[in-house]
Amino acid sequence: MSSSSPLLAVEGLTRRFQGLVAVDGVDVAVREGTVHGLIGPNGAGKTTCFNMISGVLPPSEGRVSLDGHPLDGLPPYRRTARGLARTFQNIRIFSEMTVLENVMTGMHARLTAGLGILWRSPAFRAEERAAKARARDLLGFVGLLAAADHRAGDLPYGDQRRLEIARALACEPRLVLLDEPAAGMNPAETHALLGLLRRLRDERGLTLLLVEHDMPLVMSLCDRLTVLNFGKRIADGTPAEVRRDPAVIAAYLGAQQAEAQTGAVPAEASGHPAEAAR
Ligand SMILES: Nc1ncnc2c1ncn2[C@@H]1O[C@H](COP(=O)(O)OP(=O)(O)O)[C@@H](O)[C@H]1O
Ligand SMILES: [Mg+2]
Repeated sequence: MSSSSPLLAVEGLTRRFQGLVAVDGVDVAVREGTVHGLIGPNGAGKTTCFNMISGVLPPSEGRVSLDGHPLDGLPPYRRTARGLARTFQNIRIFSEMTVLENVMTGMHARLTAGLGILWRSPAFRAEERAAKARARDLLGFVGLLAAADHRAGDLPYGDQRRLEIARALACEPRLVLLDEPAAGMNPAETHALLGLLRRLRDERGLTLLLVEHDMPLVMSLCDRLTVLNFGKRIADGTPAEVRRDPAVIAAYLGAQQAEAQTGAVPAEASGHPAEAAR
């Protein structure tokens, strides 16, 4: 692909739920090697976009392509094989498994020893050793190596979120969709997350599409932002451009400032309890 075409191209993406248009003709172009933020107030349609991009929800209209190849109609696992990984707004880890085993569940699609698994052939064992080494490398990268053999459900909340990221990386993706990775994190955890996401881009060359409510994190990390409100794209540009866009200030930042000023709803917690059911 030419350097000017985006890694992920979303065009005219639309999703209707009965009478509600949750996502309405949204375009997003994510350039390779960038962190692209998808932001907007609660209910704007961000998670619904992620569900359509990752293939868990069919769009009513619109197209999604990765590196110029259409993904339309492909199930999630085939999109993963094409290099697309995601984490979820509500943590999904296997609590009873160890931290290391959780990372390894992210790479099973890549194990190739086939029937050797039945009699634990040398090829299978070599592959398993390599998989373990890679899983440990990923745990080191996210700062969880010391917890490799702990039960995943016993990890503190922020560590569970980083474990999800390590598992998403296990399938060797080109693009990772992260849905509110900082939700529920304390300031120290959020700061560590910011450093981790930066290193994914700068050291591993990964492309990230990020939904996140933490504005300082979004503004300092993202190369570009797309802003949704009531399902529609209302702005697209650099953080500096978006920050001074009157439509954005009115729809989103303004609302958050108003909340912070009145103290009626803590910015961190706004909307999350209602979303917890999804
Ligand atoms: N499965 C669904 N059925 C009906 N309405 C839904 C469903 N999923 C999301 N919605 C609605 O679509 C809108 C966008 O939701 P969502 O994508 O979760 O927003 P965000 O992630 O930006 O907070 C909301 O009004 C939500 O209630
Ligand atoms: Mg959401």
